[in-house]
Amino acid sequence: MYTISITPEIQASALILGCMRIDELSATQLDTHLKTALDLGINLFDHADIYGGNGGCEQLFGDWLRANPGMRDQMLIQSKCGIVQDEEGNNTAFNFSYDYILRSVEGSLSRLGVDHLDILLLHRPDALFEPEEVAAAFDALFISGKVRAFGVSNMNSGQMELLRSASNHKLVADQIEFGPMHTGMIDHALRMNTMLPFSEDHDSGTLDYCRLHEIVIQAWSPFQYGVFEGTYIDNPKFPQLNQVLQEVGDKYGLTKNGVVAAWIARHPAKMQLIAGTTNSQRLKEVAKGMDFPLQREDWYRIYTTEGRDLP
Ligand SMILES: NC(=O)c1ccc[n+]([C@@H]2O[C@H](COP(=O)([O-])OP(=O)(O)OC[C@H]3O[C@@H](n4cnc5c(N)ncnc54)[C@H](OP(=O)(O)O)[C@@H]3O)[C@@H](O)[C@H]2O)c1
Repeated sequence: MYTISITPEIQASALILGCMRIDELSATQLDTHLKTALDLGINLFDHADIYGGNGGCEQLFGDWLRANPGMRDQMLIQSKCGIVQDEEGNNTAFNFSYDYILRSVEGSLSRLGVDHLDILLLHRPDALFEPEEVAAAFDALFISGKVRAFGVSNMNSGQMELLRSASNHKLVADQIEFGPMHTGMIDHALRMNTMLPFSEDHDSGTLDYCRLHEIVIQAWSPFQYGVFEGTYIDNPKFPQLNQVLQEVGDKYGLTKNGVVAAWIARHPAKMQLIAGTTNSQRLKEVAKGMDFPLQREDWYRIYTTEGRDLP
């Protein structure tokens, strides 16, 4: 599996284990799943202060770390902050204020039982964000050794440019929803200067911006469609996509999940894929796909399903 140079000191696996759903696992299942991930060469684990309701997933991961002393050194841990939720898990605000960011990181460190995060991402843009205030929070966290590197999530090129104007810290990653059913970053670029369906630019050229500034894109929910509506894999709502994934998979000995991984890995932006599966077998299938060099014709066959005809 290819690795991504986040910084010269942080070399991360292309495949990230997403920890948003680990509260669906028993402690024994989580142990097997995390050990499978490590055996596959996955060394980056993605969290957020809100996963599992008020940090529940970080707490479970921390419990596992406490039961497996020494494992922390084999892992890179990434978490996110900035989304404010009510007790039902509804987003009520976004908060990139200095105090909120520092408080959130303290909470993550305490639940995880670690003394630093390897990467901290700002989870979702805050309309009221002051770049200088975020920069000061990044400085404080870096100088105290509590965070080694910083990035963002769901941010467009303009928002990142604004943040970069105030901060000396390189933005190492932008976590964005991307997969065969979330192709917005590619759609508009292929249809520039047309009024065709899928020609609208919803993200201000973020894909090219990230490539130009060496900000790695971390593809979240790559096997989902809609807003957490479920997986499109083997879903009768998406017959064409499933048929093509099956045919390509049969040709190369990959499952549909594996083909999707190969499709994401084939993009020259050299993205990371965040797999949220709680199924260790599926994780192995995804890992196998990350190493597979998909042909250009297969890549476009998958892209052009579900109505995305080329101009
Ligand atoms: N930055 C953000 O705003 C943001 C938002 C959401 C998520 N994330 C990150 O991204 C990670 C991945 O998100 P995700 O879990 O939504 O992504 P995902 O990997 O696309 O979806 C995982 C879910 O799809 C199911 N699934 C996948 N393939 C399947 C198949 N062939 N058949 C049946 N079910 C299948 C999994 O079930 P099984 O568990 O049974 O395999 C699991 O419930 C999260 O853990 C989190 O770290 C970030």
